[in-house]
Amino acid sequence: MIVLGLEGTAHTISAGIVDERSILSNVSSTYVPEHGGIHPREAAVHHADKIYDVIKRSFDNAGLKPEDLDLIAFSMGPGLGPCLRVVSTAARALSIKYSKPLLGVNHPLGHVEIGRKLSGARDPIMLYISGGNTQVIAHLNGRYRVLGETMDIGLGNMLDKFARDLGIPFPGGPVIERMALDGKDLLELPYSVKGMDTSFSGIYTAAKRYLSLGKNKNDICYSLQETSFSMVVEVLERAMYYTNKNEILLAGGVARNDRLRSMVNDMARDSGYKAYLTDKEYCMDNGAMIAQAGMLMYMHGARQDIMETRINQRFRIDEVPVPWIKDENS
Ligand code: ATP
Ligand code: FE2
Repeated sequence: MIVLGLEGTAHTISAGIVDERSILSNVSSTYVPEHGGIHPREAAVHHADKIYDVIKRSFDNAGLKPEDLDLIAFSMGPGLGPCLRVVSTAARALSIKYSKPLLGVNHPLGHVEIGRKLSGARDPIMLYISGGNTQVIAHLNGRYRVLGETMDIGLGNMLDKFARDLGIPFPGGPVIERMALDGKDLLELPYSVKGMDTSFSGIYTAAKRYLSLGKNKNDICYSLQETSFSMVVEVLERAMYYTNKNEILLAGGVARNDRLRSMVNDMARDSGYKAYLTDKEYCMDNGAMIAQAGMLMYMHGARQDIMETRINQRFRIDEVPVPWIKDENS
């Protein structure tokens, strides 16, 4: 089947087309604020401005027309209200105009499912680290369950906030990654793991303090990465141990980071697990991931009346039935 996926929960508006086997196209446009963080209304204006072009190019690149679609999927939440409304309105309009079924999709589900599609992971423990989220997720009893998560800001958000203090625009993660390569001294930062949960606001505050004390910026970036990545890898390792699964999937925007990728690989190798790392191109928000999750939902019986496609800013991954994974432990 051929599925169009529309994504636009935060900084990026994107349209992707997939079928059962592959990604046929994926076109994105990212809103970069002139100063400060992402302003929801400005991001929504950007999305409304670009959405037609992004969808058109996605069809052109795939060599398809809207009539060829079997399903339209869009990201229903979580995310910024004004941005979610732009995407849901476009998706509903397309669905009505071309008489195509419509499904609202959970955004984190997209991150995980595109990772599984591209890597071939079957039933992994997922480390999903992005701007807004830092979660360790496992499929148990018919759903993805969140075993542990951040109690305050997402890891990516912490990196972006610190980058902003350095005068670096969004996304800050890639620049911090480059600066960290020249860091040598590991500065002490709060290592906050409580059971399976994590916390990053204390690390951010401490890093900001080092900055005001004039510490070497590369050392701070290096220490930020080493400390926060060690925390999430520790939780991941514990989740592997508790659940008896043997595959790992790393997903979300921060999964583009090579230092994190190598730490996950090292842990997997030392403990005899198989690590799958989402293709870097599809770690950040993209339409193809929403199309992929929507396709799996549709193939397994999910249907939504247009009235059921209301956006949900607090939509959690554990609200979605996931019958396409047969869990050996359930
Ligand atoms: P969520 O998925 O929680 O809704 P989001 O959609 O805003 O959050 P993504 O697009 O998945 O987030 O990821 C964006 C985040 O990834 C940003 O915080 C960005 O700084 C971070 N990021 C991107 N590349 C890198 C990198 N190389 N190293 C570290 N972080 C990175
Ligand atoms: Fe995301």
